[in-house]
Amino acid sequence: MKVTVVGAGNVGATCAQIVAEKNIVQEVVLLDIKEGISEGKSLDLWQTAPINYYDTRLVGSTNDYSKTANSDVVVITSGIPRKPGMSRDDLISINAGIVKNVTENIIKHSPKAIIIIVSNPLDVMTYAAFKTAKLPKNQVMGMAGILDTARYRAFLAEALDVSPRDIQALLMGGHGDTMVPLPRYTTVGGIPVTELIDEEKLNAIVERTKSGGGELVNLMGTSAWYAPGSAAAQMVEAIVMNQKRVFPCCVKLDGEYGLNDMFVGAPVVLGKNGIERIIEVALNDDEKQLLHASANSVKGIMDVLDGMNIL
Ligand code: NAI
Ligand code: 2OP
Repeated sequence: MKVTVVGAGNVGATCAQIVAEKNIVQEVVLLDIKEGISEGKSLDLWQTAPINYYDTRLVGSTNDYSKTANSDVVVITSGIPRKPGMSRDDLISINAGIVKNVTENIIKHSPKAIIIIVSNPLDVMTYAAFKTAKLPKNQVMGMAGILDTARYRAFLAEALDVSPRDIQALLMGGHGDTMVPLPRYTTVGGIPVTELIDEEKLNAIVERTKSGGGELVNLMGTSAWYAPGSAAAQMVEAIVMNQKRVFPCCVKLDGEYGLNDMFVGAPVVLGKNGIERIIEVALNDDEKQLLHASANSVKGIMDVLDGMNIL
């Protein structure tokens, strides 16, 4: 099996490192447009193999897509973060242009690849990649739900003083302030979380989760990479190992949850075909309303992108 990670920045390099260390594929190609950076990071990572005991070969490439040929899974992290003076629309148009160009090049050399988008704004970049790749919808997805759920689970583990491993949770919607953590579908070792924590504390954790990305930007001056890279690597593992893991991922909804032609986070089964199936859980009226509000916010950005005629 072969995996390509496009963008050798913070998230891309972390994802490549974790996939390599899992020892689940023969080769990881790291590609970037910045001369030498992916070759350097790949060489540095390969030199950790004798220390960390793995066999995965690492290959760096400065924009040479022939090296990515026949990749089974491709993770796209290339893009720029929002800079001072730049509007949200500027970011959408620049990153959509990058995602489009990268996806076209990937498809030329790996026409059957499964594509995982990480670049922001996540749900809309997944839409951009889907429109460009013209692959079946099970093969194009976005990473956000695993990260956002991990933040929610980590905050809960801290508040309850329990192992994060014992917290199972579901979160839906877009990757932004409107995301929808679902306390009704959150358990701690099988016990409903609402039996272990009072409502006020739980609500505070839900709110902290929604702004979890921003909290890290404020601390570090740039966005997070350890948890995002780990989350993308977990999706790669589920696919290449055909694990049939159940994760929230950004997927194309065609009628599920009453949403059509929409890209938002929903629970799915991840296996060798990518999205093996979308799981439809029962939502109460409040949860449905929150999910639809989140989808509307994503739709607004999809419409802005459509109006730019980039795709
Ligand atoms: P970074 O700036 O460290 O890395 C981005 C890399 O992309 C740079 O090395 C840059 O040279 C490269 N790049 C730009 N244009 C390219 C092109 N056309 N072809 C190949 N490479 C290209 O940024 P970081 O922190 O790694 O974040 C990457 C993206 O992921 C950003 O859009 C960020 O907002 C997003 N992100 C998404 C998360 C999620 O949950 N979905 C979580 C964290 C970050
Ligand atoms: C994050 O949630 C900014 O999407 C990025 O960390």
